[in-house]
Amino acid sequence: MDGGMNDLVTPLAAPTEDSVARKFSEIYGCAPAVLARAPGRVEFIGNHTDYNGGAVLGAAINRQVWVAAGPGEPGRLRLASASAESRVCEVAAAGVTRRTGGEAWVNYPLGVWQALASCGLPRPVGADIFVDTDLPAGAGLSSSAALELGTALVLLRLAGGAMPAAEVLAQVARRAENEFVGVPCGLLDQGTIACAQPGRLVHLDCRGPVYRSVPFPAGAELRLFDTRHRHALVDGMYARRRGECAEAARRLGVEWLADLTPAEFQLRAAGLPAELLLRARHVVEEQARVAGTVEALAAGDLRRVGALLTASHRSSQHLFGNTTPELDFLVDRLTGRPGVLGARLTGGGFGGAVMALVTPEFGAGAGAAVGAEFAQVFGHAPVELALEVGGGAGLL
Ligand code: GLA
Repeated sequence: MDGGMNDLVTPLAAPTEDSVARKFSEIYGCAPAVLARAPGRVEFIGNHTDYNGGAVLGAAINRQVWVAAGPGEPGRLRLASASAESRVCEVAAAGVTRRTGGEAWVNYPLGVWQALASCGLPRPVGADIFVDTDLPAGAGLSSSAALELGTALVLLRLAGGAMPAAEVLAQVARRAENEFVGVPCGLLDQGTIACAQPGRLVHLDCRGPVYRSVPFPAGAELRLFDTRHRHALVDGMYARRRGECAEAARRLGVEWLADLTPAEFQLRAAGLPAELLLRARHVVEEQARVAGTVEALAAGDLRRVGALLTASHRSSQHLFGNTTPELDFLVDRLTGRPGVLGARLTGGGFGGAVMALVTPEFGAGAGAAVGAEFAQVFGHAPVELALEVGGGAGLL
């Protein structure tokens, strides 16, 4: 998910290898032994399909979380972040427990610490950790999964031994989130961030899981519009939707909703309570849209790709019920503009950001014009980011 390590909503200055190492030294009094970088991600298409046994297309972006680490002292973990620079959180490595309030961000690295042990992977005897980022939290860009992947890389490197495959790192990070942080997310975020390749979308079939990739289409660009609004109960709403999907699958007699084609669903759906029917129909049709998008990308049919992205948003809006007036407004305004192929909410929903697939015809000032219209209605402008499709998490 995107619980986030800070509350900043304005674009952040990009950290560099030097700035991260310098800040680490200022806090811990020595240079870091190891440095990792993990990107955020956009959900290109596949809204709430991942934990329903379905497929998703994700992209790693050119905004990152940086994690620097040193061995510290045996038996002790110390954690600091640039957004809470003066406060170092100290934890006994033997008995980590969840933190609350201003220290809640450390639950992501602590979850990784626990998950490494649950997965039978090596851990160092202690660690000092420092985190910096230019990835806005709460925008649906998975700053939390990026932090998990960055932490997994530095801890494993400090522990020595062979680095596990990216797919294994994705599972470690997901377990951190599911088992320690307590968010029942699927594999989209961690799988995309661990396995992305520059210029390609990750095509993840979450059953298996099976990782493939497809080229990001030439002639198209990604823009992000962060509404800077997030429902206060977002984690609870996510868990509720997940529960509704599980209940619908149980009533339909399938293990996963993604087991059903839209035609099969049509034949069986009549007995479902009205709300479950809407949720399940979204997942089943969204699964078909992911497949359609992969085909359209292969055929170079950008208009079709864009139409599927917008159809995905409309389904989230009308069937899955996880959009907000802010997200819907942006999609309404963006899709009427020259150069916009399609637009949709990206990520779990209930706030966050809209992703638009655009051509160069979407001129430099077009985003600002949409932002001004948004500000007239909602009182503040969204934050617009031009995104590039980058590679996955790695050590420097
Ligand atoms: C969040 C979760 C993902 C996925 C999306 C919705 O980003 O972390 O696992 O379920 O929502 O598609």
